[in-house]
Amino acid sequence: MNSYLDIDHVSITFPTDKGPLNVLDGVDLRVRKGEFVSLIGHSGCGKSTVLNIVAGLLQATRGGVILEGREVNEPGPDRAVVFQNHSLLPWLSVYDNVRLAVDQVFKKSKSRAERHRWTLHNLELVHMEHALDRKPDEISGGMKQRVGIARALAMEPKVLLMDEPFGALDSLTRAHMQDSLMEIHHRLGNTVIMITHDVDEAVLLSDRIVMMTNGPSARVGEILEVDLKRPRDRLALAENPAFNHYRAEVVRFLHERHDRPKGDESETVEEKRTDTGSEPGSERLRAIG
Ligand SMILES: Nc1ncnc2c1ncn2[C@@H]1O[C@H](COP(=O)(O)OP(=O)(O)OP(=O)(O)O)[C@@H](O)[C@H]1O
Ligand SMILES: [Mg+2]
Repeated sequence: MNSYLDIDHVSITFPTDKGPLNVLDGVDLRVRKGEFVSLIGHSGCGKSTVLNIVAGLLQATRGGVILEGREVNEPGPDRAVVFQNHSLLPWLSVYDNVRLAVDQVFKKSKSRAERHRWTLHNLELVHMEHALDRKPDEISGGMKQRVGIARALAMEPKVLLMDEPFGALDSLTRAHMQDSLMEIHHRLGNTVIMITHDVDEAVLLSDRIVMMTNGPSARVGEILEVDLKRPRDRLALAENPAFNHYRAEVVRFLHERHDRPKGDESETVEEKRTDTGSEPGSERLRAIG
């Protein structure tokens, strides 16, 4: 595979009151340019930690992240993050939160007027044009999340890192944002890593779904290739047998992991390695250890 973003045997151990906590143990993933990858796994397994390491906000204890041949050591505008808990600057308006990022990235390449229009365009995309002058504490959680998404998209990053970006949205807005994201991803061809707890969302949006083992010492458990033609239409896919097969595979993985004793992961991965060959349609499901 032509590797663009390389998450190379990443391990991280945090010091805690009860001693060192090994959260990730050799997370290994190669992402192609323009690929849309979802990360899925049980709460607390380390998904946000992986994303923060790719963002350059956390440093791996062992291993590292390489983007276009260069090691990632710090945050940069080539990797925009939509955080799990929206992270707007509270003293700036909705407009200024996005404009600040636009100015940072396009100071040299766009005029003032262009930066203004680009800021508005991205806020329109998430339907926030009616609240440009409001401060973050004057809008709802879902609205804050939409502004965070607008800010990230406006940066046209090479890599878009999204941590449960649509979790706080009502289902209609969520569907709309998913469609917008697919359209933007198609148009810009950026590489996306998105964390989600929503199985339908993962299958609808992704080229690959990376399923993480339970923590501690989490790693990549299985990878599901989603081979559905793009552009994808949510209504048509609801009736599509392949879509439902992929969906069932992810649900099965999550159920099997539920209540499994911690530290029992190596065995599970080995079990899967032998099991998957005999399951119908399992050729797309690769177990890797
Ligand atoms: N700075 C830190 N110091 C100590 N422990 C940490 C730190 N950051 C994360 N952890 C621990 O690492 C583990 C993974 O956390 P993380 O936030 O990555 O999980 P997650 O998979 O994103 O969970 P969720 O789905 O609930 O968001 C948790 O046990 C968490 O308590
Ligand atoms: Mg998280």
